[in-house]
Amino acid sequence: MADECFAHPRLAAVYDPLDPDRSDLDAYLRMAEEFGARRVLDIGCGTGVFALLLAGRGVEVVGVDPARASLDVARAKPGGERVRWIEGDATALPPLRMDLATMTANVAQAVVAPDAWHGTLRGAHAALRPGGRLVFETRDPARRAWERWTREDSYGRTDVPGIGTVEHWHQVTDVDGPLVTFRTTYVFAADGAVLTSDSTLRFRGREEAEADLAAHGFTVDEVRDAPDRPGREFVFVARRPDA
Ligand SMILES: C[S@@+](CC[C@H](N)C(=O)[O-])C[C@H]1O[C@@H](n2cnc3c(N)ncnc32)[C@H](O)[C@@H]1O
Repeated sequence: MADECFAHPRLAAVYDPLDPDRSDLDAYLRMAEEFGARRVLDIGCGTGVFALLLAGRGVEVVGVDPARASLDVARAKPGGERVRWIEGDATALPPLRMDLATMTANVAQAVVAPDAWHGTLRGAHAALRPGGRLVFETRDPARRAWERWTREDSYGRTDVPGIGTVEHWHQVTDVDGPLVTFRTTYVFAADGAVLTSDSTLRFRGREEAEADLAAHGFTVDEVRDAPDRPGREFVFVARRPDA
């Protein structure tokens, strides 16, 4: 049930306008530069914001996501033809030799089932050249971010060009150990449609993620802070060791 909103065409169409501040991606752009990445695999690329930023800088990009509606939005954007888009996940990729694999905007948390998570790490490792890096973020469970996912704290009202006013908010519906399920509600003023989407996220601690990375043959070079969300996220910089 992870992230249904990315699979619904009407919701995929408002994903970018409802979240226009993508300064979270600046740190990833800097890392791509820092690591001299010329070929990047963006796992869970969604509507392609990061993939297209990279492609605009001359980087060869493969974007993979299971949500077709999001990929349709990505493909239709200016420059969409510069990226190789794959509908699916990292468990079944064609042969690749990438310098860098990324999972931006907490994609790692959307990979909920243990099999899917281990398959994702296995697939990312196989897609990297020796010495290539995997970079992703995950929310620090100790900060209990879900406690602020209430209607009161998350309510927004956004005018979307061509679509009209959209009201939107999150509400947690279940917390079960590391799994947090929440409902996002969207109200479209243009026709009064009320759409809801249920998502489940897995909160993994730093040690758990580091152990999982090691189990799949990665070396964890560093765990950084997300500069735009200090103290709230772990940003893992893992490397496929040189052969
Ligand atoms: C919060 S969005 C982030 C999208 C994009 N990375 C960004 O920065 O805008 C999470 C994305 O993870 C994708 N996703 C969910 N499960 C996945 C999986 N097993 N493998 C890859 N992507 C997945 C969803 O379809 C969705 O597009």
